[in-house]
Amino acid sequence: MEFPEYRPRRLRKNENLRRMVRATRLSVDNLIMPLFVVPGARVRNPVASMPGVEQLSVDYLVDECKGIHDLGIPAVILFGIPENKDPAGSGAYNDHGIVQQALRALKKQVPGLLVITDVCLCEYTDHGHCGVVVDGDVDNDATLDLLVKEALSHAKAGADIVAPSDMMDGRVGVIREALDEEGFDHIPIMAYAAKFASGFYGPFRDAAESTPQFGDRRSYQMDPPNADEALREVRLDIEEGADIVMVKPALPYLDILWRVKETFGYPLAAYNVSGEYAMIKAAARNGWLDEERVVMEMLIAIRRAGADMILTYFAKDAARQLARGGR
Ligand code: PBG
Repeated sequence: MEFPEYRPRRLRKNENLRRMVRATRLSVDNLIMPLFVVPGARVRNPVASMPGVEQLSVDYLVDECKGIHDLGIPAVILFGIPENKDPAGSGAYNDHGIVQQALRALKKQVPGLLVITDVCLCEYTDHGHCGVVVDGDVDNDATLDLLVKEALSHAKAGADIVAPSDMMDGRVGVIREALDEEGFDHIPIMAYAAKFASGFYGPFRDAAESTPQFGDRRSYQMDPPNADEALREVRLDIEEGADIVMVKPALPYLDILWRVKETFGYPLAAYNVSGEYAMIKAAARNGWLDEERVVMEMLIAIRRAGADMILTYFAKDAARQLARGGR
């Protein structure tokens, strides 16, 4: 059928019709809220480059998580900023570390909320890299042992899902094996499988105080132009035992999300990162964009590209809009 018999505008005429033919949905079920936890009590430090995001001490984190749970958001992902940093990132795998403390408090006080932990060393190392540095570069295999210790320590403290974000080769396999050996065979791994070396992580590094003190992360995170390689990274992580795979960042990599979903049909997460948050916040503050509208448009685009779940600093805002009948 062609014009004038076929008129696509007929089905766009009013909101009821548009609702009936809407092909992609965003639900509160798709949202995961990232949170930053710091030592101390009654600490609430705003992150300058991420308006509305704060580093929280465990007491305030618990309050925040109660609110998130009340909004119907199923899960949060925790990032810890330790008291002290050292070259081996020992705060990451200390059973009394900041994320471990937060996990125990949350599991007791907000038991209905699922808690994912980011498994990486960059927030815990004094040099800010995601692993052990040998001769000026991150040593892959030496880092694996530490990541395993970190994942186990999180699992013991009550993590529901562990999410390795370091991009070391082989880490999913060794973490899976260790979890299984220690009686945590029920804990899923959400692997940051295709994580690109991105300028869009800038604001996160303020929030997590994890900016590399020398060099950059290009020897372990992926080169932005590479799509086939992203599929290989995802394949490896699935073969090593990942239950959920992630593409990160989201907006500039929608093609990767699409190809990963088409190729593997696996549970797929997208990380709508700090820079994607900051640019909308900045434009909205200037009156250049309608924040509520572009947030929903962005999130539905990430869903349309194939993501089942979206890690986003807009999770609470989106949940509120959805509760009001937004889409
Ligand atoms: C690394 C990690 C990073 C993010 C999540 N996990 C930063 C990095 O690789 O530098 C970035 C998230 C964001 O920008 O919102 N542990």
